[in-house]
Amino acid sequence: MVDIHCHILPGFDDGADNIEESLRMARIAAGGGTKAIIVTPHSNIPDSYQNYLDKFYVDTFKELKAKIKEQKIPLEIYPGHEIFATDDIIEPIKRKRLLTLCGSDYPLVEFGFRERSESVYQKLQILVAEGLTPIIAHPERYAFVFENGSAPLILKKMGCLLQVNKGSLKNKFGSNAYDVSQALIRREVADFVASDAHSPYMRTPYLADAHEIVCELHSEQYADLLLSINPRKILKNEKIK
Ligand SMILES: [Fe+2]
Repeated sequence: MVDIHCHILPGFDDGADNIEESLRMARIAAGGGTKAIIVTPHSNIPDSYQNYLDKFYVDTFKELKAKIKEQKIPLEIYPGHEIFATDDIIEPIKRKRLLTLCGSDYPLVEFGFRERSESVYQKLQILVAEGLTPIIAHPERYAFVFENGSAPLILKKMGCLLQVNKGSLKNKFGSNAYDVSQALIRREVADFVASDAHSPYMRTPYLADAHEIVCELHSEQYADLLLSINPRKILKNEKIK
């Protein structure tokens, strides 16, 4: 499996606090069958985590990669950001101050949990017009999605892809997120399941249970698609669907 959403890079956000925690997360991920992680620290959040690409990012990434290798953990890591969508993200994405997933045409974007749908669609439209394919982080957690059953299909029709969180499928984010996440899997609307892991204790990067849940809700074939096949296409910047 390949995890396309994981806060494993230490010292950037509310994810791993230090390199030891990152390495514990790496071991947990590998133990659950994950072969690669795209690291996605929060970024571009006004008055909060900014985390534009800089020397600290590059150095920390290199250090974590080296330590994973040194400790013989069978796991690759690749660079990325979870980008908080504001009106002006296209320029920093083009200048690579905000990173798409593994240098692909797929940026992982998140929104305010109560943001209005018009505002969301407007921001996404700018990215799509520039030839990018936005991946919506945890759509099931946004009010504009759980309050409007047609929102997921509108997002897909616009050219976006949908990444469901493991935690939503395990009922960790309330009943709305739980219900929508289940529906997205059952109706084959989801494109990815990822951990959105923040620590080795809670919200971990262990994905074997998420794979099992998708098998139960739909099929093994679909579980493989969401957790292995589609994420691997991101690593190679290949077209999905
Ligand atoms: Fe996240």
